Amino acid sequence: VTASAPGRVNLIGEHLDYNGGLCLPIAVDRRTSVTVSRAPSTRVTSAHPGAEPYVRGVLTALGVDEPLEIMVGDTVPVGAGLSSSAALTCGVAVAVDRLLGLGRSVSELLAATIAAENVHVGVPTGGMDQAAALRGRVGHALLLDFDDGSAGPVPWVPEESGLRLVVVDTGVRHTLATSAYAERRRSCEAVAERLGLPHLAHATEGDLSRIDGVALRRTRHVVTEQRRVRDLVAAAAAGDWTEVGRLMTASHASLRDDYEVSCAELDAAVDQALAAGALGARMTGGGFGGCAIALYPEGVEAPTGFPVRASRAASVDATT
Ligand code: GLA
Repeated sequence: VTASAPGRVNLIGEHLDYNGGLCLPIAVDRRTSVTVSRAPSTRVTSAHPGAEPYVRGVLTALGVDEPLEIMVGDTVPVGAGLSSSAALTCGVAVAVDRLLGLGRSVSELLAATIAAENVHVGVPTGGMDQAAALRGRVGHALLLDFDDGSAGPVPWVPEESGLRLVVVDTGVRHTLATSAYAERRRSCEAVAERLGLPHLAHATEGDLSRIDGVALRRTRHVVTEQRRVRDLVAAAAAGDWTEVGRLMTASHASLRDDYEVSCAELDAAVDQALAAGALGARMTGGGFGGCAIALYPEGVEAPTGFPVRASRAASVDATT
């Protein structure tokens, strides 16, 4: 069985998944394909040596002990901030499910791919990337609510309004990325507990007056980002792209100043895009390097980067 799954770009709602909040990713038009067959012993072949722990993590999470040959073919660009790891784990999960006739639901496959990364690889990510890969819709963004687990499609075809979304890969990945990510997650959970909330995304403006210092800054990002996600969905529905751009840029400022997960290269990418005439720009994904996105009107040339569109194919796709 060959299955493929897309990479993702998050439009807004950053660092909200593990805080029980809202995110708005698009599954993009770059995919990873995985071919799985029965074999005498388990073997993983991939052009990227880093793939193996993710693949084995999915097999363990699915409780599969049959020997399988797993071949990773074309991939989402690796290390470019498009979440190639989620495209990989989701492609593997779907292909193995079909080959062995496991009959797992999308929610079960999602849980297995998240466990592969959290438990087996040991990175405490929040689940947005896997949800985008497994639940993405053609020509739509996905409004993911990590409070109630819902996922709703939101039309996303800026190209029809003469705009394009450009990804700028800074090409840097700072060494503190993984440890700082885990630290943000832990410290947000601690603030939520202090405030008596199940998740920090339940915090209100009123709660902000009960805390100070770092706790205040982190919480202020979460509270204001939640609002920006809703506002961006409304602005996109109304075709108000100027407002969409403004909200993207405001999200970046909040990630830079309050959540403190940006870096000089990301700030420079955002400043350069805005100076070139982008309607808005922001870092996307975990931060400390990786990618920024910028929304450009027709006729304005992006100084750097490559355009991405919402996926034009079904989110996951398997053929025998
Ligand atoms: C990474 C993680 C996601 C999410 C983002 C930040 O991409 O994999 O789960 O937390 O960072 O929004």
